[in-house]
Formats: sequence, C-alpha cells, structure tokens
Amino acid sequence: MGGLPRHVGIIMDGNGRWANLRGLPRVEGHRRGAERTKDIIEASLEIGIDVLTLYAFSVENWRRPDEEVSTLMELLKVYLSKELFALLNRGIRFRVIGDRSRLPEEVLAIIEEAESCTHSGSRLTLVTALSYGGRDEIVRAVRGLISAGYKPEEVNEQLIDSNLDTSGLPPVDLIIRTSGEMRLSNFLLWQGAYAELYFTETLWPDFTKEEFFYAIQEFQRRERRFGAIMPASLRS
Ligand code: IPE
Ligand code: IPE
Ligand code: MG
Repeated sequence: MGGLPRHVGIIMDGNGRWANLRGLPRVEGHRRGAERTKDIIEASLEIGIDVLTLYAFSVENWRRPDEEVSTLMELLKVYLSKELFALLNRGIRFRVIGDRSRLPEEVLAIIEEAESCTHSGSRLTLVTALSYGGRDEIVRAVRGLISAGYKPEEVNEQLIDSNLDTSGLPPVDLIIRTSGEMRLSNFLLWQGAYAELYFTETLWPDFTKEEFFYAIQEFQRRERRFGAIMPASLRS
C-alpha cells in the first residue's frame, strides 16, 4: 500500500440535484453541502492530510442566476464567521485561491480576516477555491510575470508554479469528484497534472467520512509512475 496523499482536492458537486430529488430549493442543497465539509475537514485532521482544497465556486459559476450566486456568497460568509473559531482551535490554516477581484467586499473582508488569524495553523491547510478557474489562475500568474519584467529565458515551470495562487503548497495528489460527473471543470489544472482521480456517484450532501476514507484507500492502491516505466514486479 502506498502512503497518504499530502494534498487532496475535492470537487464538491451535486448539491442542486440532491435538493431537486427531495423537492427542495437548490439553496437547501448548498446548505447541506456546506455542513458536509465539517466532517471531511475532521477526517483530514484525523488521518493527517497536509492540505485539503475544496472547490466551492468556479469562475464559470458567476454565470449562474444572480439569486443563486448571492445565496452562495451569503452562505460562505455565514459559514466562515461561524466556523472561524473552530478552525483556529483545531490548528487549521485557512487560505483562499481564485480571482478575489470579483468577490463582494464583505466576503473579501471575512476571508482576509480568516486568513490572517489562522496564519500560524500548522495541522492542516484548508484551501477554498472560490471564484477559481485553473486557466484563469495561469493567466493571472503569466500577467504578473510579464508586469514584473521577466525575460522569456527566465520563465520555467518552477517560476510559474510559484506565481500561482497555490504558491508554496504541494501538488495535488488525489482529486475526488462527487455526483457522477467525470470531468475537472477547470479545477487545479496545473497542480493536478499527475493527480490520481476518484469519481463517485454520491451527491456531495451525502458524501461521508467513510467514503472519504475509502477514496484515500483507493489512492493508496494506485501505482503512481509519473511517466517512469512500470516496476518489474508489476509487469505481467
Ligand atoms: C456544486 O453543486 C456546488 C457549486 C457548483 C456551487 P451544484 O450546484 O453544481 O449542483 P448540481 O451539479 O446542479 O447538482
Ligand atoms: C464544478 O461544478 C464547480 C464546483 C463544484 C464548485 P459545476 O457544477 O459548476 O461543474 P459543471 O458545470 O458540471 O462542469
Ligand atoms: Mg454541478
């Protein structure tokens, strides 16, 4: 069995369908989905994952109806203010990746507060991908390098990597996506170049700690090769 993933990313999908199936408004699905994150954060602390990245809102999600967007932002604000103390208490460092310039001011303020007061958390880095798109992140990084005056020959993978929103974090080892969709939807495109993928039909509001542990075990059974040849012991 392989070791634990250092960095796990989750595409928390299926909130809307979960609510539809129950005849509830989509926002109820989002509310339940936000509750689920607590268990998964707890589970990550239990087993000693270093970084957990949760995809909460994509750049493309800005195209959803205004009402859904504002409810999601409101939910995030309430959730963060309620949970801030718990994050601090548990030694969790909170960080947001994504295009902050599009976030409402009050959301930005609470995010910045959470980031600064949890700064010294060392048990787990909890990253929330908010107004996030992998392509958008790369474009912003490249623009930054151009305005800083880098010459073409100075640009390499390491430089780009250290100018992404995830600067300083290890690459994502395992990406989990719920709700049966088998796509990345612009999540950690650069960082996930060699990530193992775990897809499940479970809708995000139904995703449990047990299934999270199952996904981790599945990861541990995978043979990661990073382009190298298969070890003789595995060749048939
Ligand atoms: C995921 O659930 C949460 C966000 C994208 C904000 P969805 O809202 O995409 O739920 P489905 O995919 O419509 O079921
Ligand atoms: C991806 O889910 C984004 C998040 C889970 C935050 P979407 O529901 O937006 O993705 P698509 O549209 O099905 O690809
Ligand atoms: Mg969806």
